[in-house]
This record gives sequence, C-alpha cells and structure tokens, in this order.
Amino acid sequence: MNDFTYHNPVRVHFGKNAMDKLPGELARVGKKVLLVYGGGSIHRTGLYDRIMTMLRDAGKEVFEVSGVMPNPRTEKVYEGIELCKANGVEFILAVGGGSVVDCSKAIALGSCTDKDFWKTFFVDWEPAERAIPLGVVLTMPATGSEMDKSAVITNWATGEKNSYDSELEFAQFSILDPTVTYTLPPAQMANGIVDTMSHIFELYFSPPDGENVTDYLAEGLMRAVISAARTAVKEPTNYEARAALMWSSSFALCGMLNNGKKTDWCSHCIEHPLSAVYDVAHGAGLAVIHPAYMEYTRHLAPGRYARFAREVWHVDPAGKTEEEVCKEGIRCVREFFRELGAPATLTELGIPEPDFDRLVDLTDLGSYGYQPLTREDVYAILRMAR
Ligand code: NZQ
Ligand code: ZN
Repeated sequence: MNDFTYHNPVRVHFGKNAMDKLPGELARVGKKVLLVYGGGSIHRTGLYDRIMTMLRDAGKEVFEVSGVMPNPRTEKVYEGIELCKANGVEFILAVGGGSVVDCSKAIALGSCTDKDFWKTFFVDWEPAERAIPLGVVLTMPATGSEMDKSAVITNWATGEKNSYDSELEFAQFSILDPTVTYTLPPAQMANGIVDTMSHIFELYFSPPDGENVTDYLAEGLMRAVISAARTAVKEPTNYEARAALMWSSSFALCGMLNNGKKTDWCSHCIEHPLSAVYDVAHGAGLAVIHPAYMEYTRHLAPGRYARFAREVWHVDPAGKTEEEVCKEGIRCVREFFRELGAPATLTELGIPEPDFDRLVDLTDLGSYGYQPLTREDVYAILRMAR
C-alpha cells in the first residue's frame, strides 16, 4: 500500500427517516440560506415543499437558484455568486444530484473571492481560502459529490469541463434518503450505476496491485452494486436495493477506496469532453468510454484484470488462458451496462468520427494509472468506442 492521509468530515444521515435530521442541521447554520436545485424534479416529488417548510420553521431567510442543468454550466454558478454576494448568504443547501451539488460547491467558493471563479479555481487551480458552508440533500446516487471534495463545472463557450478539489468543498452534512430515489427515470438510474462502477474502476485499476485491504473493499462494493442494480431495475421501489445503490455511490468516492492506491481517472478525462461538447449525461458517456479503455489497457495489468473477472464477475478460470479470463471480465462489464439500458457506442450518443480531433484536444492527459495517456491513445480509445 502507498502512504496516505485520510480525512472526511461529512456528517451523513442515512435512511428512510434521514430527512427528519434536517431541522437539527439547520439549527446550527446562519439565517440567510441559498437553496439550490435542478430543473423541477423536487417540485414534482414534493421535496421542495417539505424542505421549504423546514426552512421557514427554522426561521431562515431563503434565496433560490433553480434550474441547475445536468453538466452544470458557469452561467448558473455566476448567478448564484451574485445572489450570495448581494444578500450576504451564510449557508448553501443543495437539493438534487451531482450537478446541483457541484454547482453549489462552485458558488460557495466563488462567493468568497473577488476574482473570477472559473479562471481562479477551475483553470489556474489556485488554492481556495474560504467558502460558504454547504449542506446536501441528495436525490440521485451517482457522483459521490455529497461526500467528496470535488466539483465539476462546464464552460459551454470553450467546451471545457474541469474539476476543482479543495477540502473547503466538503459538505457539512449530507442527507441520504433512498426512498427519494424511487422517482428516478430508468435512464438516470442507469447513469448513476455506471458512474458508481466507473469510480470504483478508476481506483481499483491502478498500482499497487499487491494484497491490500482497499482492493478487497472495492471488490465487495462492486459486487454489492451489481446485485442491487439488478434488483432495482426490476423493482424500482425495492428499499434494500435502492439503499445499497445510494450508500455504494457515496462510499465509492468518500476517499476510502483511494487509500494506498495511485488511482487512474483516464476514462473520466476522456468522457468529460463528451459531456462538455455534446451535453451527454456523464454516466452515459462513461458506459461507452470505460469498457473501451479497459480493452485498450488490459495488457498493462493482466493479473489485475484476471482477478477482477474472477472476484467480481465469478468468471471460472478453468481451461482458460489469463488473456481469455481478462476479456471475459470486460465482456461482463459491457453486458451489465447493456442490461441497465446504457448506451454502448459513440454512434448511439450521436458523436461522429470527424469530431474526434476536437475531443482529443479537450482531453486532460494529466492523470493516469498504469501508463501515461497520450493523444494517440485517446484517438485509439475513441475509435474502439465508435
Ligand atoms: O434537474 P432535475 O429536475 O432535478 O432532474 C435531474 C436531472 O435531470 C434528475 N433527477 C435527480 N434526482 C431525481 C431526478 N429525477 C427524478 N427523481 C429524482 N429523485 O436527474 C437528472 C440528472 O441529474 P444530475 O445531477 O445531472 O446527475 P448526476 O448526479 O449524475 O450528476 C452529474 C454531474 O456530476 C459530475 C458529472 O460530470 C456531471 O456534471 N460529477 C461530479 C463528480 C464529483 N463532484 O466528484 C464526480 C463525477 O465523476 C462526475 O464527473
Ligand atoms: Zn463520474
């Protein structure tokens, strides 16, 4: 295991009655609250009314940023920053999926500086000094943003989708009620499951590959996600399945699975331009890119890919070469994503080959697991994913 420092300060309230903890949390924060949410699902599900009642009962003065779009854009962040600065907002409550949480994190940072938030944090990666404190009510399990210290924002004008990490982005609390996810459309549920699996892959397929507790945790989590996903697809209101999916997605990025590992993130780096240029849902893009990336890189870590096939997909190695076992594991990933109804090719996402040059230009080549990623590699992976 590599050396590591682990710190995660997020207080998690999990379960059917987790929303009951919100008043207690609100009692600890300032009076002026910015409520951030998406395109309307919280109105349809009744969550908005429920939360507004709690905010009013807590005596809060509430400001709102609504209509946060999937792949949240800089414009929404500027809107929130303006509101926070003009009204002296003291606390931000994000109610939604990863897009709402990420937008809220960027607002929290950008409101505490006179500099431009995009250039300062998401381009120049300057260290943040202050942020408005943040709380989360999660409605879609996927990104892990409710427990991590990252935000991902899209600059639609430039086609960039960049992330920024800072401990100031940790939420003070996250409320995870699995029953809130019953209303997710099947395609969004699939996107969330693919994203969760992809996060675990990014951590698991990276050195060191020797015996270590982190890899066993990752394998257990992957098995739990696969089993729960298969149940939730058939029975969307199966509480245990939804609970397993919700906690797995948070756990995947809470930092525990990074411990002692180098980590990779190449598939995410290749996917982000797809979302930034075509507004593809993050999970849908990963369903196409990650299996192709695995196929392209499996020769770099055959032992790891074979172990993955055996331990996660129960592939029987008897009578097979190591290469056959590796291929079988990747075939299981593709079939699982297909089972969920996720797309499998760039063609299905409406991304034509002549655009590959631009996508390669926009891919961040900075992070890698087993071997640095080159422009030629990205071309090859995009061609494999056609
Ligand atoms: O906007 P509303 O109307 O609320 O609808 C949303 C949205 O259309 C809907 N939805 C959410 N909860 C629902 C619901 N519909 C019905 N019932 C519910 N309970 O789902 C749609 C997608 O929501 P979104 O927040 O965009 O999805 P997700 O959670 O997958 O977030 C994706 C964003 O997070 C970034 C992605 O790149 C993408 O921009 N990521 C953030 C990460 C992080 N902060 O650490 C890491 C990830 O790898 C990822 O990059
Ligand atoms: Zn992701």
